[in-house]
Amino acid sequence: MNENEWGREEGFRRGDNRNRDELLSADVADEERDEAGLRPRRLDEFVGQTELKEHLGVLLDAARAREQTPDHLLFAGPPGLGKTTLAGIVASELGVTIHVTSGPAIERAGDLAAILTNLADRDVLFIDEIHRLPKQVEEVLYPAMEDFQIDVILGKGPAARSIRFDLPPFTLVGATTRTGLIAGPLRDRFGLVERLDYYDPLELQSIVERAAGILSVKVDSEGAAEIASRSRGTPRIANRLLRRVRDFAEVRVNGAIDVAVARDGLALFGVDELGLDKVDRSILESIAVTHVGGPVGLSTLSISVGEQPETLEDVYEPFLIQQGLLQRTPRGRVVTAAAFDHLQISPPKKISEDQSLFDEK
Ligand SMILES: Nc1ncnc2c1ncn2[C@@H]1O[C@H](COP(=O)(O)OP(=O)(O)O)[C@@H](O)[C@H]1O
Ligand SMILES: [Mg+2]
Repeated sequence: MNENEWGREEGFRRGDNRNRDELLSADVADEERDEAGLRPRRLDEFVGQTELKEHLGVLLDAARAREQTPDHLLFAGPPGLGKTTLAGIVASELGVTIHVTSGPAIERAGDLAAILTNLADRDVLFIDEIHRLPKQVEEVLYPAMEDFQIDVILGKGPAARSIRFDLPPFTLVGATTRTGLIAGPLRDRFGLVERLDYYDPLELQSIVERAAGILSVKVDSEGAAEIASRSRGTPRIANRLLRRVRDFAEVRVNGAIDVAVARDGLALFGVDELGLDKVDRSILESIAVTHVGGPVGLSTLSISVGEQPETLEDVYEPFLIQQGLLQRTPRGRVVTAAAFDHLQISPPKKISEDQSLFDEK
């Protein structure tokens, strides 16, 4: 594993999650250093996602036994669930170098050609946010994935000619927050497509305890469970909340985290019992109050809460939907009775009359 490459990836990662970082992170550089140290390096250190791990384990074992590269892999799911971590695990389990880049970073076909021709035998190429690869770059990727070959066009106009290059066999690992945006032809070229799901509280608790061990933070199991239960099913958030509570514990108490310290610390940073932060709550409040429960269109909502539509769709909404607080209907976003309950405001009359709204998908 190449540590520099990991450092570079963290820069890309920050881009997709900036608002939450600003809200919750006192020191992003600190966070990135910690996060790199917290990434599991082996499949058996990776908590949860049992089925995915089993599939991946078989695929890696088979590849090792055949002394070949495994099929190309695509990991999909909301930010912070472990896609980048899994790419690193694939490389370290195979004992090869990982090259890290991202869809938006590869602007031209030539950029991709340069990356591909630099790969060594059986290396892993990780393309984060692969749904954002430009179309013309994607087309160069197809023959590379299928036949380990690329066609490079030299020259311009009538004198232009195409030269075919052979590439070493490599494994492409793609990550995306949106499988829906991956073009069929690209998707079909992955031998394994896996979706990561939100983690359950016990899994998150063991992620918090593992991270506390690495960061030398004292936390008892109730304290860890409290942090876990407010982490929106997301390991990155679990680790981040642990760091914020650690700061709180160091400044306000003796440094050890129990359930009371965890609660007070999280309350101080505006994280409620469900793990919702200020932005989550302002999304729900905007629909519930300003738009009388909805339905409200994504772009209107985006303006109301001051977040990009993509950020709302990728980062915030999946968890609110999973928690049964928000729904996407053909007419727009609506909040559910549970959301009114959670916000402790009474639903407008039309909500209770028009329950059918909640049955629509
Ligand atoms: N299954 C897991 N077990 C332990 N830690 C995890 C797991 N998944 C993610 N993490 C932690 O969460 C952080 C974010 O994971 P990452 O792979 O960057 O997510 P993604 O690429 O999906 O946004 C990592 O630094 C890692 O420490
Ligand atoms: Mg990532």
